[in-house]
Amino acid sequence: MERESATATIAFVDSGIGGIPYMNHALEHIPQIDGVYLADTAFFPYGQRRPGDLRRRLEGLIAALIERCEPDIVVLACNTASVVALDHLRNTFAIPFVGTVPAIKPAAIRSTSRRIGIMATEQTLKDPYLDQLIGDYAADAQITRLPATGLIEGIERRFFERRDGELLESIGERFADAGADTVVLGCTHFIHLEDELFRRWGDRFQVLDSREGISRQIYRLLNGLPADSYPQLVYSGARRGEDGSQARFFITSRDLESYYRRIAEFFSFRYEGILHER
Ligand code: DGL
Repeated sequence: MERESATATIAFVDSGIGGIPYMNHALEHIPQIDGVYLADTAFFPYGQRRPGDLRRRLEGLIAALIERCEPDIVVLACNTASVVALDHLRNTFAIPFVGTVPAIKPAAIRSTSRRIGIMATEQTLKDPYLDQLIGDYAADAQITRLPATGLIEGIERRFFERRDGELLESIGERFADAGADTVVLGCTHFIHLEDELFRRWGDRFQVLDSREGISRQIYRLLNGLPADSYPQLVYSGARRGEDGSQARFFITSRDLESYYRRIAEFFSFRYEGILHER
């Protein structure tokens, strides 16, 4: 069952730039969608916030986002926000939400050593939701959890001049020492390091993230497909703008505005300035 041709607006929310690879994946694989990206730069980093504060913050922000952009679906393109606030937001707003969870299930399917590494924020690593995911899908595997907070900060604030080499080497060593053959990127920010991770770790680990699963879930919701369906997504090859799709980019603080404008331009998004929390 395919959707009629109307364009749907999909909003992606993260503490910063971590969700951008998710929006790009969706725009490249799902026809007839526009993207709205909201980087909550005033409240970054989410991983250091108290769960109650983060839930309240997201409630005000999502209300403002809905009022301003009228999205059809909101994607929490942030593992921390998803483990902490997804249920609360679903209970608060009528609009459908898609949450991001660490790719533990695919990792458990692929790991032959039964040793899996995960890097994420401390909040995500200690959340009972992660324990539940591991219990459900990877109960027989040994999981090594690494917080990698410094890496997140560097990706967010020094996007154009990152120097993560040494840190990545030492994280890689720790996963290798633990015998991991598969590493889950449990914080959306890490996907910006995809090429470097592949170069440094490609011969040691399979590195997994959840972009594919998120795009598939958006596609299911848009087309009214059942949760257990497995739609095949096709890479459109279209560069943003060529197929008429749009991507808009908001932040939440005046600080670093020129830096974030540059990031929006780098990804060919239309910079829209500040979206205020309600
Ligand atoms: N990108 C977010 C995640 O996936 C977290 C980064 C932060 O701490 O703000 O968890």
